[in-house]
Amino acid sequence: MSSPIRDFIKKKGKEKIVMLTVYDFSMAKILSRSDLDAVLVGDSLGMNVLGYPTTLQVTMTDMVSHVRAVARAGIKQLIVADMPFMSYEQSVEKAIYNAGKMAREGAHAVKLEGGSEIEEKVSKIVEAGIPVMGHIGLTPQRVLRIGGYRIMKDEDKLVSDAKALEDAGAFSIVIENTLSHIAKKITDTIKIPTICIGSGPHCDGQVLVIHDVLGLGEFIPYFAKPYLNLKEQILSAVKSFTEDVKTGKFPFKENYKE
Ligand code: KIV
Repeated sequence: MSSPIRDFIKKKGKEKIVMLTVYDFSMAKILSRSDLDAVLVGDSLGMNVLGYPTTLQVTMTDMVSHVRAVARAGIKQLIVADMPFMSYEQSVEKAIYNAGKMAREGAHAVKLEGGSEIEEKVSKIVEAGIPVMGHIGLTPQRVLRIGGYRIMKDEDKLVSDAKALEDAGAFSIVIENTLSHIAKKITDTIKIPTICIGSGPHCDGQVLVIHDVLGLGEFIPYFAKPYLNLKEQILSAVKSFTEDVKTGKFPFKENYKE
């Protein structure tokens, strides 16, 4: 029997893995018809959906509500849910409890930001039966300590963090915003799939924020590629609807019954 997580892991070295963020039911329904391997209910929903300035404001309540909406779409892809800021830092118990909540709501796996310092939490969540995706490099939940959104270049630390996460039982690792040769070294060193964002072409897969791919984002980073200009297309549709109502054209004959 095929399972999204086993299919995902088996792709390392054979086929590139593709993941996009998704935050709501209707988009999840659309994406379920695609060939994406996984979707990430990312805490980037804070900025893209909820209007927060950073991911630090995102709560478990926010995440649970969006994980639930995505899971309700009954999609075939692997659903990974971000553990938000302060949902796993304080204790192993809290980390397991909150990861369990995500799994109960329909996530197939959770993603935690951090390296060797979260090793124990990762291994205990995995022991509890919940697959964990790591996230190293630029970890936006640590933006205050890092001092801004910048490229992370400490090769030795990144490689040892990746190994620590692999040893703790993570099934995959997102590598955000590092130099491509570092992402390559990590990918060549560990046996689990690496997924790059802003870290070049050498990972086993790529992830982007869906708002950036569709041209919906307020600010599109240089490492993302907008394949559509949906913001302009939405404005144009709204303009046409407004004109049709103002000029009495809408509703058209087919839009009502006498
Ligand atoms: O929340 C998110 O969108 C993410 C990606 C940057 C990987 O964690």
